[in-house]
Amino acid sequence: MTSRKPAVLVTGANGEIGHSLVRRLAADGANVVALDVREIDAACRTHCTATQVGDINDLAMLQRLGVEFEFTSIFHLAALLSTRGEFQPELAHRVNVEGTLNLMRVAVESAANSGYAVTFMFPSSIAVYGIADTKTRASAPPVSEEQYLAPQTMYGCNKLYGEHLGRYTMHHYRRLAAEQHPTIDFRSIRFPGLISADTVPSGGTSDYAPEMLHAAAKGEPYACFVRENMRLPFMAMPDAVDALLQLAEAPKANLSTHVYNIGAFAPSAAEFATLVREFFPKANISFKPDLLRQAIVESWPADVDDTRARRDWGFKPLYDLRRTFSEYLIPGVRRRYGMTS
Ligand code: SER
Repeated sequence: MTSRKPAVLVTGANGEIGHSLVRRLAADGANVVALDVREIDAACRTHCTATQVGDINDLAMLQRLGVEFEFTSIFHLAALLSTRGEFQPELAHRVNVEGTLNLMRVAVESAANSGYAVTFMFPSSIAVYGIADTKTRASAPPVSEEQYLAPQTMYGCNKLYGEHLGRYTMHHYRRLAAEQHPTIDFRSIRFPGLISADTVPSGGTSDYAPEMLHAAAKGEPYACFVRENMRLPFMAMPDAVDALLQLAEAPKANLSTHVYNIGAFAPSAAEFATLVREFFPKANISFKPDLLRQAIVESWPADVDDTRARRDWGFKPLYDLRRTFSEYLIPGVRRRYGMTS
């Protein structure tokens, strides 16, 4: 049927999640094809079967990759995050929606060729939620997947629509066509803020936590752009990558939905700063809220209900907040910035 080489495509391979995910996929024996709009980092390249510098809006380039490789699964990580998207909403839409549509098209074409549905992993976000006022936010119990779906950022709108595109493509794609083919097996995780020891994020609104940590490790002052009492769900990067891999491998029969909340801990910005200071006593952290960015965080839930992920595919984060610091972030940033003590 096909002589293409089986491979896993990772878009946004240079990004925060991509970095760790590519390594893990390669260690598990996958042929990884890494795609990014920037030159693929040398550290990432060594784990890849092939790399491609390019834009996900370039459909012809994506289709060429699809001719060369038989994509068994696609981890579509490329996106413009929430802060950047508010400066360039039309560009965010182009990348986050039209780019996603292109990837789904390539997946569908690949599935038609190979005769089986391509697993399509889509990182969604707590940004799909939009809680209208702080009083509701403060009194709301951990938010479940169906609640408050009125996102206030372009990024949130794009991610929510991406989830719908995935559901549509999986269940209803070209439903009136005479001939039906396998399409995609769409699975999505709504991630909380993610914190990595290896990379500093760019363009997100939950970035204050990782920025605070990395600044302290580098001995630089940091002015936090949200208020001290601002609470948001977060997760350590290894748990995020584990979750993606775990959901990708979960038996389909166990999945009751196509989109899952996950969370690990939900500290306030002040609690996060206290831990940073515990490990870096000289950290110079101040709070200078940017009211516009603060308002975006305020529209996201203070915590999420991830009962379904735990029940359907056994999600269970290894790292609570303290362990995230002591066993992952602190050793990681010390290594990254060449600190000896
Ligand atoms: N962490 C992302 C952001 O802040 C949301 O998914 O944009």
